[in-house]
Amino acid sequence: METILCVVGAGAMGAQIAHQAALHGVPVRLYSRSRERLDGATAQCGGLLRKRVEKGKLTAEECQAATDLISTTTDLDEATSGATMIIETVAEDRDTKRTVLEAVGKHADAGAIIGTNSSTLPSSLFADVVPDPSRLLNVHFMNPAMVMPLVEVVRGPHTSEETVTAAMEFARHIGKSPVLVERESFGFVANRILFIAMQEAFSLVEKGYVSVEDCDLAVRNGLGWPMGPFALADLVGLDVTEAILEEGHRQTGEERWAAPALLHDRVARGELGRKSGRGFTLPG
Ligand code: 3HC
Repeated sequence: METILCVVGAGAMGAQIAHQAALHGVPVRLYSRSRERLDGATAQCGGLLRKRVEKGKLTAEECQAATDLISTTTDLDEATSGATMIIETVAEDRDTKRTVLEAVGKHADAGAIIGTNSSTLPSSLFADVVPDPSRLLNVHFMNPAMVMPLVEVVRGPHTSEETVTAAMEFARHIGKSPVLVERESFGFVANRILFIAMQEAFSLVEKGYVSVEDCDLAVRNGLGWPMGPFALADLVGLDVTEAILEEGHRQTGEERWAAPALLHDRVARGELGRKSGRGFTLPG
């Protein structure tokens, strides 16, 4: 059976997941409530594809073929109709995701798999709002989704083996290297490790041991990370970073996940990282 992907939400993650799949020959319906967001998503990713063509990494024909495979819509029924795989990428907020996944469940074809791209909210939180939870799981892409190879496929207690296998195959089919996370826990695997490291970086700077710049330099040059924790927080979004930590604190009750003042202060000032043009490593 041909894979048809429906991506629900056209923020940075949804847009790049849609384009990544189209680059691998998968027809995609990209849904958002907002026509402006859909247009913004296709313009931004179109720019990324054109850069690949300029660099000789993609032919103009391949770029066109991928673009042609993506249709955009503000109609959820049209978006989900015939889709075999649905990936929800809306805001990282429990109530928003519940509402959207409930609507997706009502519209989706009976055989469709529903993956939530949440980084912190296990799919079991949404098992009661979809008609068939055996087809529900977390399918978590890393940011930027057109670049990072990892997809975490997370088995929920309700998820069938068939669904897990299909999600792993889908991730491989669109050029990703999935890992199977056998049980739900806060942050799954990569974020659980990353955000503890980030907390340590925040604490070192907050207590005056090192500057933001030197901390990032130490991690890049000493640990071989492509970007330091502060630049990475700016990429992920400081509001998203704060929300992830707060969710970790809420889910586990462990102080080690509590978001630090250094982060709260930036977010309160509207400094959200790349999306706002100001952040730890972006002066203006
Ligand atoms: N979106 C899409 N593509 C991007 C991009 C973006 N935001 N930024 C860079 N790229 C592409 C470039 O176009 C370039 O493509 P090419 O190789 O085809 O020419 C390639 O990535 C390399 O870019 P650059 O040469 O400009 O810059 P770098 O070599 O410094 O790479 C980076 C940029 C890929 C962002 C790299 O610094 C990196 O890998 N950083 C770490 C990212 C990371 O750790 N992500 C995980 C974040 S946590 C997360 O996602 C969890 C979530 O749940 C919160």
